[in-house]
Amino acid sequence: MTEKPDAAPKAPEGVDVEKPSAARVYDWYLGGKQNWAVDREFGRRVEKMWSLARPGAKQNREFMNRVVRAALDAGIRQFLDLGSGVPTAGNVHEVVEAALGDDDEATVVYVDYEPVAVAHATLILEDEAATDWAGIVQADMRDPRAVLNDPRTRELIDFDKPVCVMLMAVLHFVGPDDDPDGIVRAYRDKLVSGSWLAISQMSEGDGSGPALEGLRWFVEQYRKTSNPMWLRDRDEIEPFFGGWPLLEPGITHLPDWRPERELNAVEAEARPFAWCAVARKP
Ligand SMILES: C[S@@+](CC[C@H](N)C(=O)[O-])C[C@H]1O[C@@H](n2cnc3c(N)ncnc32)[C@H](O)[C@@H]1O
Repeated sequence: MTEKPDAAPKAPEGVDVEKPSAARVYDWYLGGKQNWAVDREFGRRVEKMWSLARPGAKQNREFMNRVVRAALDAGIRQFLDLGSGVPTAGNVHEVVEAALGDDDEATVVYVDYEPVAVAHATLILEDEAATDWAGIVQADMRDPRAVLNDPRTRELIDFDKPVCVMLMAVLHFVGPDDDPDGIVRAYRDKLVSGSWLAISQMSEGDGSGPALEGLRWFVEQYRKTSNPMWLRDRDEIEPFFGGWPLLEPGITHLPDWRPERELNAVEAEARPFAWCAVARKP
């Protein structure tokens, strides 16, 4: 299929639009506009082999949206979104803005190491005049000190008050050699009582048959890119919460965490391939 020349958005400076980017392909799965022909081509190739990438991405995003609303309902007003991605519809700051009244305030810090995600987030936050309460930090979330000590993080987040830290669909880019337990512990240790930790992670779950074969192919493709992927099972995810009590309903598949709608048949097929949970620091 030939792309129309005007189908792609203007590329922010320093962004390579010749190679597919995991962050932009994810944006395409979600129906966003911050992607180029090269990303869509990669995405379509993946979809042919594993048609559940797109419904899986949507389920992940919906889980993230429900967590933000639940955290706001619980009185949390600060969000640290690690591996935030290209800002696509339904971003944390948009959910916050839609949920809070005019006389209530919250702050959001996005963190991503991909220049493309940072460039797009900067443009969007500037366009939406949100830079006084939402910002993006370009950093590797595997370096908690760099993230936590970044001037923008310190400006927007008061760690003496509860924070909702989100690791949404990012830990599967953190391999065993990166010490994922130590990384997540460093973030947990920084938080005060009443803070939340929310995690979603791709998994073979209880999937089977061609869908599971497709997922394994999908993981292999990402292993060849600069964003290699590691799946984890439910019992490997629980220790990330460091013994904090899990909020109801505990560790579930994405659509089962406080569901708000019914799934169609394809969405039900995607359901087994990720786990998620939210815990509250005692
Ligand atoms: C699948 S997207 C998830 C986006 C968003 N969290 C969501 O759930 O909708 C993963 C994002 O994590 C980012 N990422 C992966 N490893 C990272 C790291 N070590 N530090 C910062 N960002 C990372 C990628 O650049 C990508 O934008």
